[in-house]
Amino acid sequence: MESQSIDLTTSVADIKLSSPIWNASGVMCTTIDDLGAVVSSPYTGAVVTKSCTLLPRQGNPKPRYAAFGFSGAGGSSINSMGLPNNGLSYYVDCARELGRHKPYFISLAGLSIEENLQMLSTLEHDELAQEMPIAGIELNLSCPNLPGKPQTCYDFSAMDETLRQTFEMCNRLPLGVKLSPYFDPIHFDMAYEVLKAYPKLRWVTCINSIGNGLVIDPIREQTVIHPKNGLGGLGGQVVKATALSNVWNFRKRLPDSIDVIGCGGVTNGLDVFEHLLCGASAVEIGTFIRANGVKGFQTIIGELTRAMKIKHYTSLDEFRGKLKTVMPSQK
Ligand code: DHB
Repeated sequence: MESQSIDLTTSVADIKLSSPIWNASGVMCTTIDDLGAVVSSPYTGAVVTKSCTLLPRQGNPKPRYAAFGFSGAGGSSINSMGLPNNGLSYYVDCARELGRHKPYFISLAGLSIEENLQMLSTLEHDELAQEMPIAGIELNLSCPNLPGKPQTCYDFSAMDETLRQTFEMCNRLPLGVKLSPYFDPIHFDMAYEVLKAYPKLRWVTCINSIGNGLVIDPIREQTVIHPKNGLGGLGGQVVKATALSNVWNFRKRLPDSIDVIGCGGVTNGLDVFEHLLCGASAVEIGTFIRANGVKGFQTIIGELTRAMKIKHYTSLDEFRGKLKTVMPSQK
């Protein structure tokens, strides 16, 4: 019997992608070598940079990342990296080569609205930046805009003001936002009320890490990372159910013109399938790729393809966003 060929193409912001998976910002994306490794994998559809600031930053003292709960392929992570990055102009320069091969997204995480606007202005108006093959900008709203205030995406009036100023500045490049997880239906409604006022918004990536977890080594009776007394953002297997809920909740609310990129808890191809079923147009992978390197993309695409074959699907559109609710049981 002739084997059915599987079409894994998708799109985000009308940008055509050969595969629905790539790195989550923060993983394999701080240096040109790491970014190049993601781009060179035949199994990725794009690449996104480490969230950057205007100037380079060293980040927090180590240990600032720890894997935990690993069994088999799966596992989780905690981090408090403190935004170590090489600064915006480095990531603009990297686009020259890398953006010729695959869509190259720059993630921004300024520590104030002013810093974000300065970076957006550079990307929009700087002549060098204009020449670079940059596919789009992802504005990371999971960082505080003001010290002592909540993260921008947890402060809906700050989120509104940030987006208002962002879209006043930004007309040229497609722009999406990265959001922290929400846990309350009213908060999904409130986030939607803010986002829907910005028709230029092209995608929403959910989720960033679940904030301020505490992972402990009971033998040494101490935390596993140093910054913030051991508190850090959680990723990997422990966040999957929250990530799927956020993808589904946003896909249900947002208009079709805004894509949802799923991120969180992917440790195999079926996890990608689940994100797509909840309505994601593409899926980013963090903790698993940090643990397994770029060969992890090949493993996951192999598993996704096998799952689709078993289910007789030949393209992502046949099941994307088609999650059903289980029927009530008789007993
Ligand atoms: C960092 C962590 C995040 O969750 C994020 O969205 C951006 C940066 C960091 O600690 O480097």
